[in-house]
Amino acid sequence: MRFADKRALVTGGGSGIGRATCYRLAREGAQIVVADLRAERAQETAQQITDEGGHAIALTADVSDATSVEGMAQGALDAFGAIDLLVNNAGIAEGDDLLTFDESTWDLNLAVVLKSVYLVSRQILPGMLERGSGAIVNVSSVNGLTAVGQEAYSAAKAGMINLTQNMAVKYGPQGVRVNVVCPGSVRTPIWDGIVAENPQIFEKLTRWYPLGRVGEAEDIAAAILFLASDDASWITGQALAVDGGLTAGIPGLLADVNTDAGKEKETS
Ligand SMILES: NC(=O)c1ccc[n+]([C@@H]2O[C@H](COP(=O)([O-])OP(=O)(O)OC[C@H]3O[C@@H](n4cnc5c(N)ncnc54)[C@H](O)[C@@H]3O)[C@@H](O)[C@H]2O)c1
Repeated sequence: MRFADKRALVTGGGSGIGRATCYRLAREGAQIVVADLRAERAQETAQQITDEGGHAIALTADVSDATSVEGMAQGALDAFGAIDLLVNNAGIAEGDDLLTFDESTWDLNLAVVLKSVYLVSRQILPGMLERGSGAIVNVSSVNGLTAVGQEAYSAAKAGMINLTQNMAVKYGPQGVRVNVVCPGSVRTPIWDGIVAENPQIFEKLTRWYPLGRVGEAEDIAAAILFLASDDASWITGQALAVDGGLTAGIPGLLADVNTDAGKEKETS
């Protein structure tokens, strides 16, 4: 039980990666605050944990809104007294081409993906610093590491990585670790709109993944738990790509290089 006696707050805990993280944390002993914009989804996650004999409460919050976040933090502290682990996971991915989306789409991505980390962390960090311990895991994306489209979302995800580094360096001496995971394509409801238009999307994407499949929410939850746990007690400020090898290289390119090299040998 890596998280016995730990109190965790997971934003976006009502779906996908956040929900899988809540379930795993609860199974390893943590008490969970499940926070989400969608009350009924947060409630479902908390109920499932309670049904399995764990401890969880659900809170409704908009992580892009300072007043809402303040209420969420107060609710979490009222329920559990303190928060030892924070997972900044809530997110959306809106708009694709910067020449076609409007300013409000840019602002929305930046607010929900990046500003939220600032808003939530500034509520939860002070308690961690007072106790001299705590772990924060932010959920960025491979979009924050390289160009794969969705410019507003990607820029916000890249910002999360630098914010993680700054927080890690600033608060490390006071016992708080801050890391970030960068998932590749993960089969969750965030893809629902794309899947509706392109039902074979995950099969198409598979060819880019050296490990031969897209990710599942549990793959990311496992990495989040590692970084949140004492197993990672000497790791801070790191961006961990959890992406089936996607950002390590391009399988098609490798195949072409090898084929070309083979041809050159044959003809020489
Ligand atoms: N699924 C992927 O392929 C993938 C890849 C890389 C990164 N990510 C990131 O992982 C995180 C989780 O995404 P997911 O795939 O589980 O998606 P999801 O849509 O299944 O879950 C996201 C959750 O965040 C909540 N949320 C959205 N806006 C919110 C707000 N303003 N305040 C509070 N909650 C809000 C949603 O209600 C939802 O429950 C996101 O940050 C996403 O960008 C996902």
